[in-house]
Amino acid sequence: MNQIIKNLLKCKSPQELIEEGEKSELKKTLNAFDLIILGIGAVVGTGIFTIIGSAIVGSSDGAGAGTAVVISMLLAAIASVFSALSYSEIASMIPVAGSAYTYTYATMGEFMAWMVGWILMLEYAIGNITVASAWTGYFVQFLKGFKHILPAFVVNCPLWLRNDYRTMYEICNKYGWDVHDKMPFLNLPFGLEIPIAINIPAIAIVFILTLLLIKGVKESTKVATIMVGVNMFIIVSFILVGSFYVKPEHWGVNLATFAPNGIEGIFSGAFIIFFAYIGFDAVSTAAEETKNPQRDLPIAIMGTLLICTVLYVCAALVLTGIVPFNAIDTQAPLAHAMRFIGMNWYAGLLSVGALCALTSVLLIYQLGTTRILWAMSRDNFLPKSLNAVHKKYKTPHVMTWISGLVVIICALFMDLNLSAELCNFGTFTSFIIICIAVLILRKTEPNRHRPFKVPFCPWFPILGILTCLALMYCKFSAKATSAFYFLIWLLIGVVIYAAYSYKSKRQEENG
Ligand code: ALA
Repeated sequence: MNQIIKNLLKCKSPQELIEEGEKSELKKTLNAFDLIILGIGAVVGTGIFTIIGSAIVGSSDGAGAGTAVVISMLLAAIASVFSALSYSEIASMIPVAGSAYTYTYATMGEFMAWMVGWILMLEYAIGNITVASAWTGYFVQFLKGFKHILPAFVVNCPLWLRNDYRTMYEICNKYGWDVHDKMPFLNLPFGLEIPIAINIPAIAIVFILTLLLIKGVKESTKVATIMVGVNMFIIVSFILVGSFYVKPEHWGVNLATFAPNGIEGIFSGAFIIFFAYIGFDAVSTAAEETKNPQRDLPIAIMGTLLICTVLYVCAALVLTGIVPFNAIDTQAPLAHAMRFIGMNWYAGLLSVGALCALTSVLLIYQLGTTRILWAMSRDNFLPKSLNAVHKKYKTPHVMTWISGLVVIICALFMDLNLSAELCNFGTFTSFIIICIAVLILRKTEPNRHRPFKVPFCPWFPILGILTCLALMYCKFSAKATSAFYFLIWLLIGVVIYAAYSYKSKRQEENG
């Protein structure tokens, strides 16, 4: 028993990790600018273009913040800032691929490292299911804008060819339609019926991006640069144009109209809108492909967070200033706001911006999934054979295919809202662990060079832990379905570790 506990707590020394990173076969091509593009590309997406609506108005699983969404956004930003500072300190100190997974291995041992890697899959892979589903929504809006020149079968493509079956059931419920009229079923013996619904646009975009990532990370960030440029232009112009139409009375004349659901609404809004901030940590997953990681990682992480927070708060103020909070649309809130003031053409342009934003999030998240799986397989938690680097392109092609296929398969049946909330749970947990890792490393490695240090340590990491815990608690106390699924996800992680990874690690030790 003692031996098992010792094995579970076995850490990799930071020195060992750094040496492994230096031996990496991945090409070192990225600089601070590439990393910020990577960061903004990963952060700006579904959150600001779609989920902001639910944060304001509320959803079946939580109360809305109303105009006080600005406070929710700041709360989510605060939870992120403390963790971003902690990420910056560790990423500059141990610049290797794998993000929170690697840092946990250096501080809390083998078992926790595996669990964090497993939890990060919620953030990166499950998060990508949300984004891929939202991508289809905007793609359909975009196609509708060209209905006069596109063939009718493209524009009027049946619902079951652009939605997963859960969403099909929801749509049918909402409009009172018979689900058998709207979606084909495969009839099996014993009365079993399998609904057939395939989100083809979501699957196609993930497939194309998988091919792009195999071709090379530099090429992928070039595409991300174009996408980020377009979506920055769209959001900044939304803020500038929209600000002329703001009516301050929409912001609420007293506390009851400003925050209609009080503190509960503000916290619930902060939990949901946190999705909009997720992604800056993706920067640290590209550490081994960065030319000067010690200097560039902290600049990129903090820079990304700062730029995004300013944009989000301004966009939220403009949105709630243009449209009374209870009239805000939850499907496409920004586009709807533009229609609200009579600018229909601009609403169409927004769909293009949203598509670019969602595409870059997909691209960068898949890059992140691959890099984490790659680091886990290098450490023998997963079969080594998955670790192969492509001879010509020098990219981890087997892992890239696996991460693409996981999203494609799950996009067949996973629900957009559930995957977003699960993703948030995973990210909060990894943020908490990063803050704890900073505290541990300050004790165990006090003399190691730290190109960047979290100010006011230990208070800032502790505040990071407390803010994330408070936001998670609000979902647990509301007994949200996602909280239950999160616990199941953790349990599955423990089972895989016990059944495969633990043994594989012992075989590695015995040569
Ligand atoms: N922050 C990313 C988004 O909003 C996950 O899409």
